Amino acid sequence: METTPIVSMRGITKRFGGVTALEAVDLDAYSGEVLAIVGDNGAGKSTLIKILTGVYQPTGGNIELDGEPLVMNSHSDAIEKGIDAVYQTLALADHLDPAANMFLGSELTTSLLGFSMLDNARMRLETERVLKERLGVTLKSLDVPTESLSGGQRQAVAIARAVYHADLRVLVMDEPTAALGPQETARTLSLIETLKEQDLAIILISHSLDDVFAVSDRIQVMRRGRRVGSVMTPDTTREEVLGMIVGGTKAA
Ligand SMILES: Nc1ncnc2c1ncn2[C@@H]1O[C@H](COP(=O)(O)OP(=O)(O)OP(=O)(O)O)[C@@H](O)[C@H]1O
Ligand SMILES: [Mg+2]
Repeated sequence: METTPIVSMRGITKRFGGVTALEAVDLDAYSGEVLAIVGDNGAGKSTLIKILTGVYQPTGGNIELDGEPLVMNSHSDAIEKGIDAVYQTLALADHLDPAANMFLGSELTTSLLGFSMLDNARMRLETERVLKERLGVTLKSLDVPTESLSGGQRQAVAIARAVYHADLRVLVMDEPTAALGPQETARTLSLIETLKEQDLAIILISHSLDDVFAVSDRIQVMRRGRRVGSVMTPDTTREEVLGMIVGGTKAA
């Protein structure tokens, strides 16, 4: 693991009108590390990673990429910098096949007799290649609507789309196993290991301490908009993490 983070968030605050969703939160993401973010509902996990992925702009604080200030105005700014996210909802076009989903909005074209047309053959080959080479996933058929795939396969397509950007460096996964059965959960966790070996920084938001303890290297605990802990996974226990999630003091 490298010692310099790819991205650092410092003192991030986010207010929605009168609601303070985040208060002075720090986060560091390292190449080849799986960072789990845990915390109760409403703790600020999703808001924090939406700021990291350019979806929201912070009310205060700053972000650095490779030690340089990073200001993002949109999600596409983040993608351009190699930071992307896969959400539980996956945002796939279910009626389209996996290749169409991989290239949604950035279709490959070829020119024939001066006309530009979709290069379906190449998009399919590229989809097959990225799924196999980057994720170790082979689909039985690529000639099916994405809605007919299993939850884990659909997720692989969504992840493939994110990693297809050759310079992807930070991948955020918000509750990737929430809708999956045990077998598909195991596949998703091994997929996370595969991406980690490719030196990506993985940020895993999860309510499942089983998943968190299975794949993470470090755990950042959020409570009521604050970071209340950041511990190396091998050095902690479920009890300790649960204690940080609910807090040592009585709820106000
Ligand atoms: N767009 C918004 N407008 C107003 N308040 C918001 C908005 N987004 C989030 N919040 C508030 O910010 C706080 C943090 O929400 P967030 O979604 O980040 O929590 P979370 O940790 O992801 O929770 P969960 O585990 O339920 O997904 C909550 O109090 C939430 O109601
Ligand atoms: Mg959330």
